[in-house]
Amino acid sequence: MADTETASAESYKVNVPAPSRPFFLKGSDNLDWGMKNRLSNIFRPDSGRTVMLAFDHGYFLGPTTGLERVDLDIVPLTPFADTLMLTRGILRSCIPPTYTRGIVLRASGGPSILKELSDEQIAISIDEAVRLNAAALAVQVFIGGERETQSVHNMTRLVDMGNRHGIPTLGVTAVGTDMVRDARYMRLATRICAELGASYVKTYYVEDGFDTVTASCPVPIVIAGGKKLPEADALRLAHSAIQEGAAGVDMGRNIFQAESPLAMIQAIRKVVHEDFKPHEAHQYYQTLKREQPESPARPPV
Ligand code: R5P
Repeated sequence: MADTETASAESYKVNVPAPSRPFFLKGSDNLDWGMKNRLSNIFRPDSGRTVMLAFDHGYFLGPTTGLERVDLDIVPLTPFADTLMLTRGILRSCIPPTYTRGIVLRASGGPSILKELSDEQIAISIDEAVRLNAAALAVQVFIGGERETQSVHNMTRLVDMGNRHGIPTLGVTAVGTDMVRDARYMRLATRICAELGASYVKTYYVEDGFDTVTASCPVPIVIAGGKKLPEADALRLAHSAIQEGAAGVDMGRNIFQAESPLAMIQAIRKVVHEDFKPHEAHQYYQTLKREQPESPARPPV
């Protein structure tokens, strides 16, 4: 018998049942430990929500406005994000490996903005995702698009690959420019992603009936910011989405193209994690903008 073993029943607390805690994310209770651990590095367990900073746009757009110098303009924002959404090329070349929050890797690609965007394929191997310590894999799903089936198949293959290694899949609903962005479409697209295995889904906010989109999707939904809006409007958009059931934002242009990206990401955090009202968040943004007029890494003009 090992000499450290105790015989006293008191030490074993035999009358205290082991706690059984539900996992904090919708629809995720039956996932395995690794998957839940990675999701906890994307969503904050205390609020159940996330501020994902999206700057993967270059994978089909090249160096778009605000992303010309990721090293100078985006890296200073990363401490304020709960997770980063980016390509492996930018991760390796620009992001310090001392960054410890979740990395959501862009895992599909192929066509540039000059071609048919729905013609994507899986753009990463699972070995590479494991090597880069990915917290999730993001794949574009083009419901109603020309290559709808191909893009859905990309997602289901990534789900299979990810599930083998405990890596969640983010299904990104990509809406063609000619399609109607309404709640009916978003319900269809998000539900298909969830039914076919996505751990969580990214979509766009719609004014009418967004709560039906979040209600009918059995896993968490995060919203993309979309085209650049005035800061007050972007904060209002984030607030409405959160209040109507979104578990966070995956926001790019409305942060990195803001007049003060540093102030904007901090204001978005207040909306997402602390339920700030839009006017409170905008006031906060303006105060920070005055105090921190420039990103510290930007060279003086
Ligand atoms: C778009 O193709 C990318 O996946 C972006 O990550 C996504 O659209 C979110 O960025 P934004 O808020 O700029 O729409």
